[in-house]
Amino acid sequence: MPATPARLVVLVSGSGTNLQALLDAAADPAYGARVVAVGADRDGVEGLRRADRAGVPTFVERLGDHADRPAWDAALAHAVAAHRPDWVVLAGFMKLVGHEFLDRFGGRVVNTHPALSPSFPGMHGAADALAYGVKLTGATLFVVDAGVDTGVIVAQTAVPVLETDDTDALHERIKTAERAMLVDAVGRIAREGLVVEGRRARFGPAAPVH
Ligand code: GRF
Repeated sequence: MPATPARLVVLVSGSGTNLQALLDAAADPAYGARVVAVGADRDGVEGLRRADRAGVPTFVERLGDHADRPAWDAALAHAVAAHRPDWVVLAGFMKLVGHEFLDRFGGRVVNTHPALSPSFPGMHGAADALAYGVKLTGATLFVVDAGVDTGVIVAQTAVPVLETDDTDALHERIKTAERAMLVDAVGRIAREGLVVEGRRARFGPAAPVH
């Protein structure tokens, strides 16, 4: 395990229960990572209040405050970089990051999606799975690339879809499993490393270069 905990910057847009799970896990030094800052694309969200309560610095970059999307993306990358992250965790961050962001942090940005990729990408993973009629869905942690929920898969967790489910009930079941997956996988990334070969990712140190 590395001598110093990995520095995580977490980006949120809403309630921040995934962020809270990371904050709680990181309270134990053995976890191997700590949340050094939390950013959002909007003011006043519960995720920012969770960071405040944990004594973690926050920042907000609103799309509407910038001339265009690339300008917002560059400002977001700049704000994140100020906290010198080892990893950036998108945890319910409801915007796509752009080229500048990925150029700067590419390969070190993970996102959690409430569906079993490659099924049901996009903003409505739980609702789309329910509407399609699948009996099993879940959540996916992936390395962010330029696509929509298309990156290399780091971890997945499955939950059943029940006959009585509506979208909220299903999403809550997914989120319970998602939080555990996120905490487990981010901790392993921090403690062990992450190796990506083609479309396949595994925990562990990169092979030495000969
Ligand atoms: C999660 O299910 C995430 O995958 C999705 O939105 C939800 C965010 O939940 N994109 P929270 O803000 O962490 O509570």
